[in-house]
Amino acid sequence: MSALRPVQYPPVNPSFPHFLHGGDYNPDQWLATPEVWDEDMRLMKQAHCNTMSVGIFSWVQLEPEEGRFTFGWLDTIMEKLAANGARAVLATPTAAHPAWMALKYPEVMRVDRERRRLRPGGRVANCLTSPVYREKCRIIGRQLAQRYRGHPALLIWHVHNEYGGECHCELCQAAFRDWLKARYGTLEKLNAAWWTGFWGHAYTAWEQVESGDGSVQGLSLDWKRFTTHQTVQCYKNEAAVLREVTPGVPVTTNTYGYFVDFDCRQWAPELDVVAEDCYPLYHERADNLKTAAVVSFQHDYYRCIKGGRPFLLMESSPSSMNWAPVMKLKRPGVHALASLQAVAHGAESVQYFQWRAGRGACEKFHGAVVAHDGTGDTRVFRDVSGIGAMLGKLDPVLGTTVPAETAILMDKEVEWALGGAAGPRNEKRDYTATCVNHYEPFWKRGVPVDVVHMDADLAPYRLVIAPMLYLMRPGAAERIEAFVRSGGIFVTTYWSGIVDESDLCFMGGRPGPLRKLLGIWSEELDVLYDDDANTVVPAKGNGLGLKGRYGAHIFCDLVHAEGARVLATYGRDFYKGRPALTVNRVGEGEAYYQAARSDGRFLDDFYGALIRRIGLRPALDAKLPAGVTAQVRTNGKQRFVFVLNFVNKPRTIRFAARAGMTDLLTGRSVRAAVTMPAYGALVLVDS
Ligand code: GLA
Ligand code: ZN
Repeated sequence: MSALRPVQYPPVNPSFPHFLHGGDYNPDQWLATPEVWDEDMRLMKQAHCNTMSVGIFSWVQLEPEEGRFTFGWLDTIMEKLAANGARAVLATPTAAHPAWMALKYPEVMRVDRERRRLRPGGRVANCLTSPVYREKCRIIGRQLAQRYRGHPALLIWHVHNEYGGECHCELCQAAFRDWLKARYGTLEKLNAAWWTGFWGHAYTAWEQVESGDGSVQGLSLDWKRFTTHQTVQCYKNEAAVLREVTPGVPVTTNTYGYFVDFDCRQWAPELDVVAEDCYPLYHERADNLKTAAVVSFQHDYYRCIKGGRPFLLMESSPSSMNWAPVMKLKRPGVHALASLQAVAHGAESVQYFQWRAGRGACEKFHGAVVAHDGTGDTRVFRDVSGIGAMLGKLDPVLGTTVPAETAILMDKEVEWALGGAAGPRNEKRDYTATCVNHYEPFWKRGVPVDVVHMDADLAPYRLVIAPMLYLMRPGAAERIEAFVRSGGIFVTTYWSGIVDESDLCFMGGRPGPLRKLLGIWSEELDVLYDDDANTVVPAKGNGLGLKGRYGAHIFCDLVHAEGARVLATYGRDFYKGRPALTVNRVGEGEAYYQAARSDGRFLDDFYGALIRRIGLRPALDAKLPAGVTAQVRTNGKQRFVFVLNFVNKPRTIRFAARAGMTDLLTGRSVRAAVTMPAYGALVLVDS
C-alpha cells in the first residue's frame, strides 16, 4: 500500500502559474454607463484581482435576435482585462437562454414533474434534451470560441452555470427510454430490475415507461442516473465545440455543494478542472465549528472528484449572501480564513460572486467586492485586497495536493437509494450528515481525509470508512475485501449492504455482500424515536481504549457475531448484551462494524484510537486546541501546513518537537509555540 502520493500537478492553465483571484463580473449590466468599466479595471488592480468570470448570463446581450451577434461590448471588456494584466474565465451564456428563444421554440423550456412547461424567465430552465437548445448552444459557443481564440485574456472556459434540476418533457421521456433500452436491452430485464410485479406495474411496451412514479424505486434511481447522464451530455455538447476551436484552453463548469443532485463520477472525465462554488454561513454561533467541518468535507469531496487534483473555488461571497433567512455579516478575518480553508484543501483560486453589486433585480443585496457606494474604501474591499496580496505569496503551493491515508466513502447512488426508500425510519437517515460526523474526528486532529465514491481505487489508503453503505454496486464488496486482505482497515455501520444497484434487496441475510467480510449477521434493525436512546457498553480489553458508556440513537442494528470479535454491546432493552461494535480480522487487515448510530463522543474516541493505532500522520505534530484545525498540501518534498483558527478567540499552538518553520503569509519564523489571533490562519513551511 502506498501511503503518500507525492504529486505536483501543473497549473490549471500553464500559461498562468498563479492563484486565481477575482470573480463573476457582469459588465453587461452596466452597458448604459460604460465609464463604470474603467473604474472596475482600476479597482480590480487595487484589489489584486487577476481573473474575472465574464459572460455567464449574457446570451441575450450577445445574440439579441436569432443569428444576430453583438460582441462589441465583450470585445472591449476582453481588451480591458488584457490591458490590466488580468485573465478571463470566459463563460458560455447558456444557463440563461433569451426570451426570444423560449417564445419561438417552446421545446427549449423545461417541463416540471406535473408536466407543466415553465414560462420564460429565471435561469437554468432549459430542457436537457431539446435538439434546438443544444444546437443554439453550439452556435453561440462556436461564435465565442472563434472570436476569442488566441486572445491574451482567455484563460479557462466556464460552461453554463451550476447545472441542476430535471426536465420531464416528451423529448426527455423518449431519451429516457432510449437510455433504458441501452441499459437493459429488453423490457423483461427492466421489469425484473424494477420489481414491477409489485402493484401491477409490469410494462408491456416501452412507450408505457415514463418518469415520476415514486412507488418504484428502481425507476426513480434510473431517472436520477439518466438526469445526470443527460446533463453531462449538455455539457459535452458545449465542451466539444470549445475544445475543437481552442484546443489547450481548459474547460470546466461550476457546481455547488451537495445541492447538486448529480453523480459526479460521470463529470470527472469531462472536466479539465473541477470548479466548486461554496457559500458557508459562518456566524459567531455555537455551530461555527460544525459549519467549518462541513465546509472542509465539501472541499475534500470536490478535490477527490478528479482523484485528488487541485480544484477551483469558482464562487464564494466576499461578504454575505442574500438567500438564507438571516445573512449576518462575516466577522473580520472570517473571509480570509474561509478562503485559506479552501486553499488548504486543494483550491487553486479564490473567486467571488460577485465583483460589483447590480442596482436592480434579485441579487442586488448579495455581497460583492464593490458595493453600491462604488468605491474601494470599504472593509470588504480591503479584505479582498488583502486576500489578493496573500495569494500572491502562495505560488509555491500551486499544484500540490493533500496526502490522505484515510478515505470516507460517500456515494451519490447510496444517497439516492437511501433517501428514496420507505422505511425503516423515514426521517433522520441523514446520509451526508452522517458521513460528516465520521469525518469530524479526523478534521479536528488535522488528519487529512479523501472523500471518495464506491468505485474509487482503495489501494492508496490505510483506512476506509463507509457509513451507511446501503446500496452496493457489483464489485464493491470484492474491492473492499481485497483492500482489507492486503492490510487495510475498513469501517462500516448499520444499514449497509442492503440493496443492489437496482434497489433490490440482497437475499441471504444482511449485510448482504459484506456479511462474510464483517463476520456478522444482522437479523433485525431497530429504529428509535428521536427522544429514545440505548447505550453502547465497551467490552473489557476492547483494544481501542473505549470506556464507560456511549449513547445509541436512531438506528440500532441487532447482529449476531459470526466470527467477528465483539468490542461493545448494547446496554438496554430486549437486546441488552447483543453486539454493538465488532471487528473481524481478514487477511492482513480488519473490518469494523458499528451496529448503532452512536454519539459524537463515541466516534471521537473510536477514531482517535484507530488514528493512534494505525499511526495516521496529522498535518502538524502538535496538539491542536479546540476550534483550530490543520491541513497539509505537499508535493512529496515540501509540506505546506495550513493552521486555521475557527473560533473568535486567540489560540496558542504548542509544538511537540521544537519546530523550525516559517509562516509564508508573514515571513515570521515559528518555534516552540505560536499564538494565533481570533479567526487567524498560518501557512507553515519547514525552514
Ligand atoms: C450561485 C450562482 C451565482 C449566484 C450565487 C449567489 O452560486 O452561480 O450566479 O446566484 O449563487 O449566492
Ligand atoms: Zn425536456
